[in-house]
Amino acid sequence: MSQQATALPPAAEAQHEPGYLAVSNVTKRFGAATVLDSLSLSVGRAEFVSLLGPSGCGKTTLLRLIAGLLAPDQGAIEVGGRDLTRVAAHRRNIGVVFQNYALFPHLTVAENIAYGLRAKGVPKAEQAKKVADALGLVRMEAFADRAVTALSGGQQQRIAVARAVVVEPSLLLLDEPFSALDRKLRETMQIELRHILRNLGITSIFVTHDQDEALVMSDRIAVMNEGRIEHLGTPSEVYARPKSLYTMEFVGQSSRIGGVVTGGRDGIVEIDTPFGIIRAPGHFLTGSKVVVGVRPEAIAAGEGPAGEYNTVRGTVAEVIYFGSRTLLHFRTAQDGDRLHVELNRLPDTVAPGVEMTVRWRLDDSRVFPAPGGADR
Ligand SMILES: Nc1ncnc2c1ncn2[C@@H]1O[C@H](COP(=O)(O)OP(=O)(O)O)[C@@H](O)[C@H]1O
Ligand SMILES: [Mg+2]
Repeated sequence: MSQQATALPPAAEAQHEPGYLAVSNVTKRFGAATVLDSLSLSVGRAEFVSLLGPSGCGKTTLLRLIAGLLAPDQGAIEVGGRDLTRVAAHRRNIGVVFQNYALFPHLTVAENIAYGLRAKGVPKAEQAKKVADALGLVRMEAFADRAVTALSGGQQQRIAVARAVVVEPSLLLLDEPFSALDRKLRETMQIELRHILRNLGITSIFVTHDQDEALVMSDRIAVMNEGRIEHLGTPSEVYARPKSLYTMEFVGQSSRIGGVVTGGRDGIVEIDTPFGIIRAPGHFLTGSKVVVGVRPEAIAAGEGPAGEYNTVRGTVAEVIYFGSRTLLHFRTAQDGDRLHVELNRLPDTVAPGVEMTVRWRLDDSRVFPAPGGADR
């Protein structure tokens, strides 16, 4: 169970009726380039799912396909059991919030929010009530008659959210909505938006390239790589039990040590590495080239009992102080290897050049096939 789930109203995750949004085997090409490759994604009602991946991996393209702003070359998109694949964007009842807000500059705040209601032919009195409610939701009641051009970035983004949710969309799509905001404001908006959307129970797809943002906000995260979803899971699953080396390295910090499998039994493999023999849960053939990944905070100073722990010795290369914690980088003998150790308390003797013994639990080790290694 993810950390944030415990702080929420009961069982936010359990309520999600699966398959509310169903993206099935969607392929999108631009010329010769396949930008999305037979991608499928199923999102539950009222669920908040982030698409997380580096620039260019296809996040915005997927969002535009769901919104109906692009048509797929293959595959289907359904919301609430209705096939939308060939339905025009304005008939999908899907709300979109973009990075650059896209508010109408010649309209006031209230007029911007009322825009979609007017287009739908909602009666005037009802419009006023809904606009007032939406303004209350984003705590912008006092700004109804302002020109949107007179608002700060954070205020404009609140109005963009109010404008999108006021029409009660069946799905809300958000494309890096906070990337233009400074860090403090972004963190505030993340918590606020999560709160608002959970209370409203709006199913949301949120695009970001910021792993912290995805971890903080999401019920589930879809980690994307070159037009495919590498791992779809809760924030704690993606972080603690990544399915691929790519996911492990994209989400959070990690140590990684390459080696060759020398044997194994009972679900534990033995790997010969420059740091000595490392043992980890997994099933690989002897001779396989693998990479062992460990989160830096799972590694502690000193030896551990051999049955449960890996213990290695290395030389500290760098000491990086973060205030509440310190990160140690160790020297490595092999290209691509990293041994990073995060300590809450730093022993006085630790400095660059010092030799040190560290340990981590076998259970905290993940083993992946080495990238490009054919002999797995
Ligand atoms: N209209 C388009 N024409 C041609 N190529 C495009 C178009 N839109 C996006 N692409 C390409 O598709 C890939 C994915 O883009 P995009 O979905 O915007 O990525 P992301 O949002 O993850 O950064 C990129 O290589 C981009 O250059
Ligand atoms: Mg994008």
